[in-house]
Amino acid sequence: MSLIGVSGTALGADPASEPTGKQAAEAYRQIGGFLQPPPRRQQQQQQQQQQQQQLQPVNSSYVVLGFNDLGMHCMNQDFSQLCILPPYNSLHAQVIRRGREPRVVSSGVTVRYRIPSNTTSVTKTNFWQFAPQLFGVNLLPDVGLAGNGLEGVMTPTGDNDWAAIGIPVTPIDDNGFLNPYPLAKIQVESQGVAVATTRAVVPVSWEISCNLCHAPGATNAMVDADILQRHDQKHGTQLLGSGSVLCASCHADPALGTVGVPGVSSLSHAMHGSHADRVQPLADMGYVNACYACHPGFKTNCQRDVHFAKGIYCTQCHGDMAAVANPARTPWIDEPTCGSCHAARQHEFDFEEPGKLFKESRGHGNVHCAACHGSPHAVGPALTVEDNIQAIEHQGYAGVISKCTVCHTSMPNETFEHKRDD
Ligand code: HEC
Ligand code: HEC
Ligand code: HEC
Ligand code: HEC
Ligand code: HEC
Ligand code: HEC
Ligand code: HEC
Repeated sequence: MSLIGVSGTALGADPASEPTGKQAAEAYRQIGGFLQPPPRRQQQQQQQQQQQQQLQPVNSSYVVLGFNDLGMHCMNQDFSQLCILPPYNSLHAQVIRRGREPRVVSSGVTVRYRIPSNTTSVTKTNFWQFAPQLFGVNLLPDVGLAGNGLEGVMTPTGDNDWAAIGIPVTPIDDNGFLNPYPLAKIQVESQGVAVATTRAVVPVSWEISCNLCHAPGATNAMVDADILQRHDQKHGTQLLGSGSVLCASCHADPALGTVGVPGVSSLSHAMHGSHADRVQPLADMGYVNACYACHPGFKTNCQRDVHFAKGIYCTQCHGDMAAVANPARTPWIDEPTCGSCHAARQHEFDFEEPGKLFKESRGHGNVHCAACHGSPHAVGPALTVEDNIQAIEHQGYAGVISKCTVCHTSMPNETFEHKRDD
């Protein structure tokens, strides 16, 4: 599992040689990102900051922390010709009964979620029209592939938390504005009474910028047609004009649970491998980070975490295109770990559980890593207002949940153990 470009050495690197957050932000603006929010987002952010004044009641008996399993969910908007990924966000919540010894709660309460800014998706993408052809299912409007809608009840996962899998949220809010960081509101009810709430980002983008190279300047339909036509030319397939194509039907994709056709490479391997030596033109166009050509684009801050602020970008954790395409790794499973870099600095910590990813692992008191730190790529303090809201509402400041009394009703006498204790 060692794909890390720099591993421990990054932590020992000369800090002077690393760009500061400000320099990184400036560089990012130059390549077309929008860390400097456009007016509409600034307005939203002000509203959100005002709402933040409503801190969680300190004496409540429960606390809930939400997180998305992915740092950014990419999806297509138009499914009429092809589908790389459908709308499918998975929101998790960890419910804790506060106490001198807090208890993780996995039954006996109702956990509801909704996304106040996005109450419908059918008007924003044609996914529902093509779902029967692509996935062989007839879905009710606004219901996702796992049966969950844009609001509903979360179910216990058996892993100490609650989840709503496959929420079909899009990056367009109900007023028609683009927002890749919509906020879900999570509410815990005990015997019909609300006992805890939180807000967590459900990140989603359809910027996927294949059009930087495929039919640049043309319509989206032309871009998709170009991709299919080139595929047909090179690999003897007949995808163009055959209706809507699910790439993962032939190329195995653990993200969708498809095993593909024997002998055909996985989607990740096919995409990164074949494009590894095609990304040079991006640099010539002035784009520094080639990963953003597809993940998901230069306008959406997919990586907006504390590392970005410190000048640590995709390839330092994931390696380059060729490394991602390495056939020895299993896509979606062999990912970087926090421990691979941070163990050098915090020897006494336990990081990810053996054989598990960050998103599945638990630490202190069996609380999920992401409940305290945020989702991968949004590890706090983040650069986006939305991603910091939960921590600010719970403890008054952004960053990892480090205030003991968020969960403990009295200050523990013993020191903080980062590892889980069973
Ligand atoms: C940096 C430029 C660039 C970007 C960005 C890009 N492509 Fe390509 N792609 C190419 C080039 C160049 C070819 C080869 C064209 C040819 O020789 O006909 C290609 C070919 C392909 C092919 C044909 C199969 C093969 O042999 O690789 C597919 C499928 C494809 N691209 C899909 C995509 C998708 C999907 C995206 C966005 C998620 C994308 N590409 C983004 C440059 C790019
Ligand atoms: C009908 C089956 C089928 C479908 C559907 C399909 N592919 Fe392929 N694809 C193949 C085959 C076969 C190859 C050649 C063998 C290989 O590379 O594994 C290939 C090759 C590729 C390659 C080049 C891989 C390389 O290493 O050169 C890319 C990139 C690719 N496909 C992307 C896509 C994308 C993106 C989609 C969806 C738009 C898609 N494929 C849909 C069968 C399919
Ligand atoms: C030409 C388009 C393209 C570029 C450029 C690209 N990716 Fe991807 N990447 C994809 C697609 C498409 C998927 C989704 C595959 C799937 O659904 O399994 C993906 C999936 C991934 C995944 C998850 C699956 C896995 O293999 O573990 C990782 C990690 C990843 N990319 C990292 C990177 C990094 C790092 C870079 C830059 C060095 C990069 N990608 C550049 C198209 C691209
Ligand atoms: C500080 C290290 C770090 C940086 C920087 C980083 N990643 Fe990741 N990435 C991770 C970790 C850790 C995971 C696995 C998280 C998990 O599944 O628990 C991951 C997972 C992924 C995945 C799989 C899907 C997901 O969201 O979990 C993709 C795709 C991906 N990264 C792409 C990128 C791209 C593109 C960039 C740059 C824009 C980037 N990463 C920057 C650490 C990093
Ligand atoms: C490629 C190596 C690498 C990986 C992988 C990585 N980090 Fe980091 N991380 C760093 C470096 C380097 C810093 C900056 C340290 C500094 O500025 O002193 C940092 C800083 C941080 C900070 C801020 C700490 C501080 O003292 O300012 C946090 C929190 C953090 N990382 C959490 C994580 C989490 C959680 C993960 C896994 C999801 C992770 N990191 C994965 C290298 C990494
Ligand atoms: C109860 C909240 C909580 C949980 C759960 C938690 N952490 Fe932390 N984590 C913290 C706090 C607080 C710090 C800062 C401690 C410090 O600076 O000494 C921290 C620090 C870190 C750092 C940065 C260490 C450094 O070099 O400064 C990493 C990486 C990290 N945690 C990863 C994880 C992983 C992986 C998990 C899951 C196995 C996890 N954390 C679970 C609260 C938590
Ligand atoms: C996100 C919630 C959360 C936060 C924040 C948190 N803890 Fe805990 N802590 C727990 C849970 C849950 C347990 C498990 C209690 C049990 O089952 O015994 C626990 C257990 C402990 C224990 C083990 C002894 C005991 O009471 O069972 C100590 C000591 C402790 N925490 C100290 C701290 C300190 C110090 C901090 C602040 C730096 C802190 N905790 C922050 C949730 C939290």
